[in-house]
Amino acid sequence: MTLPTIGWIGLGHMGAPMAANLARAGFPVAVFNRTPREVPGARVAATAAEATAGADLVVTMLSDDAALEAVLFGAGGVAATLAPGQVLATMGTVSPKLAESVAARLAKRGVDAVDAPVSGSVRQATDASLVILAGGTAAALAHARPMFDALGKRTVHFGGPGQGARAKLAVNLMLGVVMQGLAEAVAFGESCGLDAATLLDALGDTPLASPVVAAKLAAIRSGDFAAAFPLKHMAKDLRLVSDAAAEVGATIPAAEVARGSYDLAIKDGFGDLDVIAVLQSLRKP
Ligand SMILES: NC(=O)c1ccc[n+]([C@@H]2O[C@H](COP(=O)([O-])OP(=O)(O)OC[C@H]3O[C@@H](n4cnc5c(N)ncnc54)[C@H](OP(=O)(O)O)[C@@H]3O)[C@@H](O)[C@H]2O)c1
Repeated sequence: MTLPTIGWIGLGHMGAPMAANLARAGFPVAVFNRTPREVPGARVAATAAEATAGADLVVTMLSDDAALEAVLFGAGGVAATLAPGQVLATMGTVSPKLAESVAARLAKRGVDAVDAPVSGSVRQATDASLVILAGGTAAALAHARPMFDALGKRTVHFGGPGQGARAKLAVNLMLGVVMQGLAEAVAFGESCGLDAATLLDALGDTPLASPVVAAKLAAIRSGDFAAAFPLKHMAKDLRLVSDAAAEVGATIPAAEVARGSYDLAIKDGFGDLDVIAVLQSLRKP
């Protein structure tokens, strides 16, 4: 089988290992990042439009709505260069509204778009075990599936444009509340005079210790809060959750409280650290 050619934009914490996996798996990959970056086995393009020209699949792995809008529809944006037959997969976490609007604007050019955000962090991006949460037409998804299969362990199709973005927000609503709960449990225990190391060990042996909680317990234990999932992106996702919940009348009290806590942690200077650095904000006197 001839593998589709890929034009990849966005080489941050997630995009770089994902693009590297595709190159390693034999996909012809051209990459572009605003801040120049290389990926083993991939051709580095001088502009986003050069990376995506003629590619079977165009992928974005960008931070937020503003970045996706700018890269696609801003000055020199790639949307204007896309042609029928090419499929766009947007894999960052963006608002369902923007995912729908991207699909609608590209449909006018005869180009199909899939919103395909991912569950999993840098480790899962690196070992290709992401879960891909997709929204778009069945045809677009079929086109992108060989690439998704090389990036993750499972792709779930939730329906039309925007539904992948909504599924991702549901996942990150839970993540945001769980990370806040873990940080509060540790801060509370420390304030009560419990031995911190003993508490972390005990939490790791409870049924609450999911893989992500176990990874964050290890980060707290070592004091290494370098970002795998930047705290500023958690806050961004909970803002998206809040907006999407207001649109459909969903009640999300815990997520709203957690969102306030992450926003405070950003004010305290922890936005570029990992999501679990919210603990550092709770610990301050
Ligand atoms: N990290 C995780 O664990 C994780 C897990 C699941 C989903 N996600 C989601 O996946 C997306 C990427 O996450 P990440 O952790 O890889 O983020 P990141 O490390 O902050 O990388 C963000 C990327 O977006 C680019 N970018 C930002 N603004 C831009 C603009 N205006 N124009 C062009 N490029 C722009 C950055 O380019 P520069 O390098 O030039 O800044 C970089 O390539 C986010 O939506 C995040 O919420 C992250």
